Amino acid sequence: MSIKNFSPYVPRPATLVAKQKLSDFVTLFTFEQDNGKPLAHKPGQFVNLSIYGVGEAPFSISSPPEQKNVFELAVRKIGTVTQALHALEPGAKIGIRGPYGSFFPVQQFVGKDTLFVAGGLGYIPLRSLLRYQLRHREEFGRIIVLIGTRDPKERIFTEQIKRLGERGDVEVMETVDRGDETWQGNVGLITTLLPKVQIDAAGTFVAMVGPPIMYRFVIADCRKIGIPADQIYVSLERKMKCGLGKCGHCQINDLNACIDGPVFRYTDIEAYQEAI
Ligand SMILES: Cc1cc2nc3c(=O)[nH]c(=O)nc-3n(C[C@H](O)[C@H](O)[C@H](O)COP(=O)(O)OP(=O)(O)OC[C@H]3O[C@@H](n4cnc5c(N)ncnc54)[C@H](O)[C@@H]3O)c2cc1C
Ligand code: FES
Repeated sequence: MSIKNFSPYVPRPATLVAKQKLSDFVTLFTFEQDNGKPLAHKPGQFVNLSIYGVGEAPFSISSPPEQKNVFELAVRKIGTVTQALHALEPGAKIGIRGPYGSFFPVQQFVGKDTLFVAGGLGYIPLRSLLRYQLRHREEFGRIIVLIGTRDPKERIFTEQIKRLGERGDVEVMETVDRGDETWQGNVGLITTLLPKVQIDAAGTFVAMVGPPIMYRFVIADCRKIGIPADQIYVSLERKMKCGLGKCGHCQINDLNACIDGPVFRYTDIEAYQEAI
């Protein structure tokens, strides 16, 4: 047996089948694994993507778990790997390891209301959970989606979010930190949206992904209105290498964000205030 058959560090080949620009810097990439198998991930998990000869980086899976043949990643062009990825055209080969990490415990959310809180690129992993819930809409209570972006030009999935708001069975509210001449909506931090929704605190689960500074304020507001701490889930991104709990790059005290996270129940990390 060659090392390829058992080393967890060897990526599996996949093919880029489509790309769609979401904003000036963010593109949605659709991939198909060359082995023909589905990725079999859970909402909130990530993959390590390699561009051969360039490098590897972790990205959240944005498609829902039941999407059989293809999976989607939405990636911001920021450095070496992401620039090389943006330069690829459909048909190009990449490598994939994973899916890795913890996930949103969607079965616990059944019969309850879900409050999504997405800051910036945080909408990317939340979209996997949201689309799962929409496919099984009758199993869930209210779905409330709060989205905050720095400025209107950085908004992503704008068409999909517009359609989401038009469905009638999802409550969607958006805000931007700074408006411009194109923006007619709410201006202010994402915390300004929370008082605008009536929430049944005891019956609501929170799924939150965004910049760490957002967590501190949104969690405090959620607790103030009575949402139990063990019903709040957040995703913590750290610099990652192996994705397997081996290299220590992603440590948060005694936890490894790659295997114990990235999705954490708030009560499990409440003690690590510096990490949140
Ligand atoms: C679990 C997990 C999920 C992720 N999901 C996504 C995702 O869905 N989409 C996505 O676009 N990114 C995501 N990221 C972030 C992504 O992995 C990093 O941005 C990665 O470093 C990009 O690799 P690169 O080689 O292009 O950049 P690098 O060459 O490694 O970095 C270039 C420069 O940008 C800085 N930098 C790197 N990341 C960031 C950042 N996030 N903000 C500000 N500066 C940064 C670096 O410090 C460096 O100075 C995720 C990270 C983790 C840990
Ligand atoms: S990325 Fe290596 S231990 Fe988490």
